[in-house]
Amino acid sequence: ERLALWGGRFASGPSDAVALLSKSTHFDWRLAAYDLAGSRAHARVLNRAGLLDESELEGMIAALDELERRVTSGEFTAADSDEDVHSALERGLLEIAGPELGGKLRAGRSRNDQIATMGRMYIRDSSRIIAGLVLDVVEALITQAKAHPEAPMPGRTHLQHAQPVLLAHHLLAHAWPLMRDVERLVDLDARADASAYGSGALAGSSLGVDPQAVAAELGFSDSVENSIDGTASRDVFAEFTFVAAMTGIDLSRLSEEIIAWATAEFGFITLDDAFSTGSSIMPQKKNPDVAELARGKAGRLIGDLTGLLATLKAMPLAYNRDLQEDKEPVFDAVDTLALVLPAFAGMVQTLTFNTERMAHLAPRGFALATDVAEWLVRQGVPFRVAHELSGAAVAKAESRGVELWDLSDEDYAEISAHFTPEMREVLTTLGSIDARSAKGGTARSAVAQQLASAEAELSRL
Ligand code: ARG
Repeated sequence: ERLALWGGRFASGPSDAVALLSKSTHFDWRLAAYDLAGSRAHARVLNRAGLLDESELEGMIAALDELERRVTSGEFTAADSDEDVHSALERGLLEIAGPELGGKLRAGRSRNDQIATMGRMYIRDSSRIIAGLVLDVVEALITQAKAHPEAPMPGRTHLQHAQPVLLAHHLLAHAWPLMRDVERLVDLDARADASAYGSGALAGSSLGVDPQAVAAELGFSDSVENSIDGTASRDVFAEFTFVAAMTGIDLSRLSEEIIAWATAEFGFITLDDAFSTGSSIMPQKKNPDVAELARGKAGRLIGDLTGLLATLKAMPLAYNRDLQEDKEPVFDAVDTLALVLPAFAGMVQTLTFNTERMAHLAPRGFALATDVAEWLVRQGVPFRVAHELSGAAVAKAESRGVELWDLSDEDYAEISAHFTPEMREVLTTLGSIDARSAKGGTARSAVAQQLASAEAELSRL
C-alpha cells in the first residue's frame, strides 16, 4: 500500500495512474539540497518557537546531515512510492531519525511554502551561474573587438550595404545586449530575494514559527509580505525564463550572422575546426553547427517562457497543483543555456576574420553615398538637395556598373556645379568611418572609447 503524506482521512492510497501523474521526483530531485537546507533552517526556528528542545534539534540536524550525505553519495534516492522531493526526503528523515523525532519537522510548514522557496533559491543560484557563462561570451566578443580595432566591414540595414563600420563596432553591438541580459539577471535577484517559508499552505505561519528567521537562515534578506502571494505567485520564475529566452534570442541574432558570414558568398569568417562540424557524405563540408544549435535552442527557450506563462494564466489564488509545472521550464532554460553558452563562447573566441575581404566590400554597393551628401551639406547645400545629387551620382555609377569613386570629376560636374574635386576626400572607407566620431559612432576614436566602456561594464558585472 502506497504511503501518502495525507493518510488520515483516506481509505486507500492513490491509483497507479494518479501516482504516475502526480510524481515529480524525476525532475524536482535537483532541489534536494535546497530542501534539506530549508529543513535545517526550519528545525532551528521550531527550536526557537519551543517546539523542538535542544537535544531534539541536535538529533534533527544530525539526521538531516546524514540524509544529505546519503543523497549526495547516491545512497538515498527517490523511491517509486515517493511523490515529490519533499515527501521523499521526509521518508528519508523518518528512516534516520525515527518517526517520533522525524515526524516533528513538518509542523508549521507546507510543501506549498517549501517549493515556492526552493524555486527562488534555485533561480538565484542559477542566475549567477548563467550570468558568468554569458559574460564569457561577452568577453570573447570584446577580445575579438580589441584584436580588430581598425578593420572595416560593410554595415547593413535591411541586409543591404548601408555605411561602412568597424568590425569592432559591430562585434560590440552584440556584446551590449548580452550585458543587459546579465544586468536583468542581477536585477531579478532583488525580486527573488524573499523567502516564502512560513507562508504555510497559504494563510501564514502558526505555532510561533518566525518566517523572517527562516529567511535569514536561507540567505534571503526578508520573507514575503503576503503568504498567499508567497505560495501562489511565480512571476519571478517567468521573469527568469524571459531573460533566458532573451539571451537565447540575442545569441540567435549573432548566430544568424555567423552562419551567413561563413558562407562562400560572404566569406567573412573561418570557423575553427574544434567549433564546426563536417558532413557524413560531403567531404568538403565545414558546417556552423554551434551557431545553428544556438539559433535552434532559442526557439526552445521561447517555448519554456510561453509554456510557463500559459500555465500561470488565469490561475486562481492560492496554490494549485498546476504550479508543479513551474519547474521544468525553468530547469530546461538553465540546462539549455548551460550547454549552449560555453560552446558559443569558444566559437566566438576562435573565429578568424577575413579582414581583407570585409575591408574590400565595406565601401561597395555605394555605401559612401551618405558621405557624398554630407560633404555637400558642409558646402552649404540643403540636405534635401544634397541627397538628390548624391542619388544622381549613384544612378550614374550604377548604370555604368562602377562605384562612386570611379566617376570622373567631369561626371560629377555634369551632375552639379556643387561638386568640386575636393569631394573625393570623403570617398574613402576610413574617411567615412572616422567622420562618425560622436559618442556611440563608428569612428576609430569613438570605438576605442566604447571598448573602454564595454570593458568597464564587463568588470562591473
Ligand atoms: N510538488 C509540488 C509542487 O511542485 C508541491 C506539493 C504541493 N502539493 C500539494 N498537494 N499541495 O508544486
